[in-house]
Amino acid sequence: MIIGIPREIMPGEARVAASPEAVKKYITDGATVLVEQSAGVGSYYLDEHYIDAGAQIINSAEEVYQKADLILKVKEPLFNKTYNKHEVELMHKGQYLITFIHPASPVNHEMVKKLAEYGVISMTLDSVPRISRAQSMDALTSMSTCAGYKGILMAANELPKFIPPMFTAVGAIQPAKVLVIGVGVGGLQALATAKRLGATTYATDIRPAAVEQAQSLGAKVVDLGIPADMAIAEGGYAKELPEDWLVKERAKLTEVIKEMDIVFCGALIPGKIAPILLTEDMVKEMPHGSVIVDISIDQGGNCELTPPGTTEVKHGVTIIGVKNIPGTLATSSTWMFAQNVYNLVKFLTKDGKIELDMADEIVKAILVTIDGKIVHTGALEAMSK
Ligand code: NAI
Repeated sequence: MIIGIPREIMPGEARVAASPEAVKKYITDGATVLVEQSAGVGSYYLDEHYIDAGAQIINSAEEVYQKADLILKVKEPLFNKTYNKHEVELMHKGQYLITFIHPASPVNHEMVKKLAEYGVISMTLDSVPRISRAQSMDALTSMSTCAGYKGILMAANELPKFIPPMFTAVGAIQPAKVLVIGVGVGGLQALATAKRLGATTYATDIRPAAVEQAQSLGAKVVDLGIPADMAIAEGGYAKELPEDWLVKERAKLTEVIKEMDIVFCGALIPGKIAPILLTEDMVKEMPHGSVIVDISIDQGGNCELTPPGTTEVKHGVTIIGVKNIPGTLATSSTWMFAQNVYNLVKFLTKDGKIELDMADEIVKAILVTIDGKIVHTGALEAMSK
C-alpha cells in the first residue's frame, strides 16, 4: 500500500497528518510512504526526519495524490491555487482518503459531492464514535485536549493579573477564579491546566458524570439544577436543552460570572450548533479585564459576542474566538493526530491493504463516500434540509 502525506494548504494550518514516528510504523507494517516536501515544517518535523524514518520526499502534491492508494490529511480537501484545481480533482477512483471532512457542514456539501463523483472512498475523523474500542483512533478527543490546555494558556496570557496566589513583601494576592462551562474532553483539560497554574477552579455541565469528573479535579461545582433526564440522551451524550431551561441556566451563570476572571466555554451537543450560554447583557456584568475563551466557536460559540477567528475586547472583557487552537501547539497536536490516524489505518488494514468491514460500527460511522455515493448519515440529513 502506498500512503501519501500532502502538505496542508489551508492558510495558517501548521499540522501534518503523519509524524516521522508514525511514518516509521507504517513502513514497518509494509507500506511505502510518500511525504510532500516541507509537509512537516510547521510542526517542526523536517524532511530529513521523514527520510530517516524511511519516507520518500516528493516535491509535488500532484504526484503524491497520483501515486498514493491512501491519502492522509488533517483538513478537508480545499482548492489548491498552485495547480488551479480542487484537491479532490487531484484524486482518483478507488483512492482512500482519511481526514477531518466535517461532511454535515453546509460549506462542505459541494466538496463531499465531488468526492463521490470522483469515486474516492473517504472517511471522516470527526465521526469516530466515542466508544472504548475507538479511543486510540479518536483525533477529535486529542484535538480537544490540545484546545483545553492551550485555551487556558491563551486566556492566562490576556489576563492582566496573576493566576496563582502570591505572597509578596507588599501583600498577598488572591488566586484568579476560572469557570469552565461544559466539562467534556476540552473542558476537563482546561480545568486541569487552570488548577496547575494555581487558579481556584469552578465547573458546570448538564451531565452529572461530567460534573463528578470536574469535582475529582478539584473544581467547585456550579449546580444548574437541571434534571438528568432532561440533559442526557442515548449513549450518555448531552441532549439539547429546551429554551426555557437555557434561560434558567443563563440566570444561574449570570450570578457566577460576575466573580470570575476567566470563563472557558466548551459546551456542545454533538452534531449541533453550540448553545448560547453567555449573552451580551451577561458579558456586561463581568469584571473589566476578565477574559472569555470560547473554544466552541467552530459551532457558532457559547457566547453571542465571540468574534470568529480572532480576539476582541467588548464591554471591557477580552473575548478569544481563535479557531484551530491545536494548530498553535503544532508539534504535540501533530504527534497525537498522527498516532490516532495510525491506529485507525492499522484497524482498517488486513494483509497490507485497506479492507472495510461494512458491518463494523466504526467503519459505518466514519465512511462518507464510497462507490460514487454519499453514505454518511449526518451529511445526508444536512443535505436534505
Ligand atoms: P464534548 O462533547 O466532550 O464536551 C462538551 C460538553 O458540553 C459535554 O460535557 C456536555 O455535557 C456539555 N454541555 C452541553 N450543553 C451544555 C449546556 N447547556 N451547559 C453546560 N454544558 C453543556 O466536547 P469537546 O470534545 O470537549 O469539545 C468542546 C468544544 O471544543 C467543541 O465545540 C469542539 O468543536 C471544540 N474544539 C475547538 C477547537 C478549537 O481549536 N477551537 C479544537 C478542538 C475542539
